[in-house]
Amino acid sequence: MKRKIVHLVDDESIIHDIFKKIFVESEYQLRISENKSQAKSNHTPDVDVVIMDQMIPGSSGMEIFKELKKDDPEIKAIFLTAFGTIEAAIEAIKQGALDYLQKPFNNIELKHKVDRVIKEKKLNRENTQLKKTLNDRFSFDNIIGRSPLLKKILNMVESVADSNSTILITGESGTGKELIAKAIHSNSNRKNMPFSPFNSSNIPATLFESLLFGYKKGAYTGAASDKKGVFEEADGGTIFFDEIANLTPETQAKILRVLQEKEIQPLGSNQIKKVDVRILAATNIDLMSKVKSGEFREDLYYRLNIIGIHLPPLRDRKEDIPILADTFMKRYSRENKKPIKGMSQKFLRQLMEYNWPGNIRELQNAMLRAVLLNQGDLLTPDALPQEILSKKKQQRKEKGSFNDQVDAFKRQVIVETLEENSWIQKKAAEDLQLKPSTLYELIKRLGIQK
Ligand SMILES: Nc1ncnc2c1ncn2[C@@H]1O[C@H](COP(=O)(O)OP(=O)(O)OP(=O)(O)O)[C@@H](O)[C@H]1O
Ligand SMILES: [Mg+2]
Repeated sequence: MKRKIVHLVDDESIIHDIFKKIFVESEYQLRISENKSQAKSNHTPDVDVVIMDQMIPGSSGMEIFKELKKDDPEIKAIFLTAFGTIEAAIEAIKQGALDYLQKPFNNIELKHKVDRVIKEKKLNRENTQLKKTLNDRFSFDNIIGRSPLLKKILNMVESVADSNSTILITGESGTGKELIAKAIHSNSNRKNMPFSPFNSSNIPATLFESLLFGYKKGAYTGAASDKKGVFEEADGGTIFFDEIANLTPETQAKILRVLQEKEIQPLGSNQIKKVDVRILAATNIDLMSKVKSGEFREDLYYRLNIIGIHLPPLRDRKEDIPILADTFMKRYSRENKKPIKGMSQKFLRQLMEYNWPGNIRELQNAMLRAVLLNQGDLLTPDALPQEILSKKKQQRKEKGSFNDQVDAFKRQVIVETLEENSWIQKKAAEDLQLKPSTLYELIKRLGIQK
């Protein structure tokens, strides 16, 4: 158990002796300082309470208290005052001291006050500790967004983080799959163990196994010493298999085995090693279709997909665009020392109208580019790449000119009315309050056919 540290700052040896008698039990540790410099070197933040005399040669209790408080804002102090110096005591309490006691004091009263302060301090410490651990868990500081879709995902992450279960994270490229995988790991009880990403897409099939399971010296030409694989390195932690759809059938079989048996065998070794890793996997393609076409093992699919988290594309959660853009703008202007104050209305409108096939990564890149290229302190559309700007024009072009759009509307109304009247033009003309000849002309010009 931690000893209770009592720090007495007083120059009188009589008081020292009294304190030594009062705090004689082994649960207390008494530190005694006679002046300012001793007080400073004896004081550490784990001191539970300081008993401070007002009159210290060359200084004052108040002054020393203020000094100590600079380094230890949580300091708890009780002031000893001489008879008639009550004002000083009041001032001390105003400055954050906890209590005061008049000299000569009653030993029992002193001890009582000290114990009470220590008890309160301990409670406060526990509270801040508790708050801190609560904040440590489920902190998604780096995940930006306020859309209900994202909130749902974060709730899900929170509830599955500690479960140890494998999780399959799906979503288009750039939607934040790796970010979510990291969030799951860092909110799990494995958070102090390794998080090892493993991207299977650019690794030659022949290297998969040695990378994943490691090898023994001499397992093949060039294997000059033993090498640990990802599974062993991540032992106790999490492996994030990115682009899982690219795994070869042989590797799929081997990974399935590890998931089932929780053991690995390095290449060229006849030893089997136990490993404890959690697997998170991600894919941006529809893995089920690969299962149907026989390219991905069904049993592995179900093993991985015990819990599935799908990240919606950015265009389905456009509410997140302004805050993401703002965060990236601030980050990149700070990193690149560009004095950017904000975004123009038009700039933001362009961001909102674009459909972001590359999702958040594309938005991130666009914001970096804009910050670097922009003239002046307000981001304007000139700093955006052509494909984002032309989107609006393109949408208009796809719809056609004003006349084309009006014709399209006329065509729709006429076809609907003809349908309602079994394509009898005379009846349709009546409904539309048109002369039959006018309707006939329109049908011909608009190329309407049954
Ligand atoms: N909600 C978010 N808040 C802040 N940054 C985000 C968010 N989502 C994604 N990002 C950032 O966008 C970039 C792309 O995210 P990430 O690499 O996790 O996506 P991914 O789905 O793994 O993409 P890919 O399929 O291309 O590998 C990263 O820099 C990431 O930090
Ligand atoms: Mg990724």
